[in-house]
Amino acid sequence: MNPSQDVAVKCSGVTKCYGVGDAKVIALRGIDLDVYRGELLILAGPSGCGKTTLISIIGGILKRDAGICTVLGKNLEDLNTGDRARFRGRSIGFVFQAFNLLPTLTAAENVAVPLLISGEARKSADQRARAVLDQVGLSEREDALPGQLSGGQQQRVAIARALVHNPEIIICDEPTSSLDHATGHAMMEILRNVAQAPDRALVVVTHDSRIYEFADRIAHMDDGKIVDVSVGAEQAHAQ
Ligand SMILES: Nc1ncnc2c1ncn2[C@@H]1O[C@H](COP(=O)(O)OP(=O)(O)O)[C@@H](O)[C@H]1O
Ligand SMILES: [Mg+2]
Repeated sequence: MNPSQDVAVKCSGVTKCYGVGDAKVIALRGIDLDVYRGELLILAGPSGCGKTTLISIIGGILKRDAGICTVLGKNLEDLNTGDRARFRGRSIGFVFQAFNLLPTLTAAENVAVPLLISGEARKSADQRARAVLDQVGLSEREDALPGQLSGGQQQRVAIARALVHNPEIIICDEPTSSLDHATGHAMMEILRNVAQAPDRALVVVTHDSRIYEFADRIAHMDDGKIVDVSVGAEQAHAQ
């Protein structure tokens, strides 16, 4: 990989505040960060340092206050609401910290939702959803409701849903935070095996240093800033 060639996400001077007056919280204080195609970038840092805010801006879910964030060469702020939603639907897979699965739909139905929204026929959407659930090791639980699944299994459904439309960018917010160490490790292996691809950028947010070993690079955040970008453990050993 020669990541310097192909930037998928570029943030320059991105800032964000919440609230006003005494309630004002500065969440991002000027973020400069590039994410390359083909890499797994871990965005690390303590709770409250701004990780979710940053990936929400990258994912087009939240507006920045200042600075520029381009995703696949597009400045999301230049797009109108409909175009931004379509771009997001096509190009970005987002795994939310709370999974956000629809409780009355089965695992396969949850995974098929992004395809149905983009106009795919029900039968082929269902087939594709089941194929991706198989990839994440859930082929036996495809027809279960989220409430019948463990936390780790729900997480895998959420990952399958983010992958189903084959987006160029995948963003996962704390994918191992509700899992024990062994299950978290297995989840990262699934992510790396199933989601990592030469043309795809994978951003994984965590405050768990035990999963740093899966990263190509680790961007460390503190108090709304990127304070360091380091090379992941395996890459460090290979050099
Ligand atoms: N909707 C919100 N309204 C007000 N403050 C918020 C909101 N979301 C996050 N914050 C604050 O912004 C800061 C960064 O939050 P967040 O991006 O969620 O951090 P992290 O994901 O690293 O835990 C924190 O101080 C948090 O309390
Ligand atoms: Mg967070």
